[in-house]
Amino acid sequence: MASQVSTKGSAKEPKVAAKPAARRPLIPAVLLKFIMALSGAVLVLYLVVHMIGNLQIFWGQTAINGYAEWLRTLLQPVLGWEGFVWVVRIALTLSVVGHIWAATLLALRAKRARPVKYAAGNKVKGSYTARTMRWGGVIVLLFIIWHILDLTVGVVNPSGQHLKPYENITADFTPERWYITLWYVLALVAIWFHLRHGLWSAVQTLGKSSNRREKVLKTGATVFSTVLIVGFLIVPISATFGWI
Ligand code: HEM
Repeated sequence: MASQVSTKGSAKEPKVAAKPAARRPLIPAVLLKFIMALSGAVLVLYLVVHMIGNLQIFWGQTAINGYAEWLRTLLQPVLGWEGFVWVVRIALTLSVVGHIWAATLLALRAKRARPVKYAAGNKVKGSYTARTMRWGGVIVLLFIIWHILDLTVGVVNPSGQHLKPYENITADFTPERWYITLWYVLALVAIWFHLRHGLWSAVQTLGKSSNRREKVLKTGATVFSTVLIVGFLIVPISATFGWI
């Protein structure tokens, strides 16, 4: 049945094209939002553990290289050498794919649900945020690909030694290779924006009950994102300045 479109009012009102009644989507929006939140939570948890692990470089070469080796021995009797690392890699891959997939479906649905297209030069706030999140997400994805080639596989790293994060990090971030440090800094700033916005969206759902609660939760999300990103940033910056 075609939707009933009111013809009341002045001719100035935007004309809404009669659309066929929307079919109920196969995957409910609430499930997509749950997938976004769950995969986001897995990725944030990984980032917290990864950032704390990285800080061991300040305790020296033995500490950080020993940590990389220790990770491979976790649950070794059950999963074998590096089995735990592979479980984490699979969980991360599923989370990244799930996060992008759910975000894309939700964005497409929001676009379809909009009855009138935004006029050029009349961009609204929501669309600005959506664009920032989309482009931020692309930068984060490109960074992760580079980062794995750099510090895990080692093919774009001047040292590129397996299980030698100390050697790889100190060879990567040097004054001569300032552009690599800059690239990491820019990517981390993009991650800060992406993370803060993602947490703010989650908080908006949780904190609907009161404005004060929402404000407190949003501040907490900003502080959390900042501490996390600063924790990451100090490693490449310290290596570049020779403090490690
Ligand atoms: C800028 C500071 C960072 C430094 C110094 C750093 C360092 C490292 C090192 C040394 C490894 C190899 C670990 C190993 O083989 O045991 C690694 C792996 C990895 N890092 Fe980072 N990292 C940083 C930031 C990040 C960020 C911001 C992300 C995510 C957005 C990230 C995601 C990953 C992933 C996915 C791996 C691959 C883990 C694996 O499967 O082996 N890292 N990182």
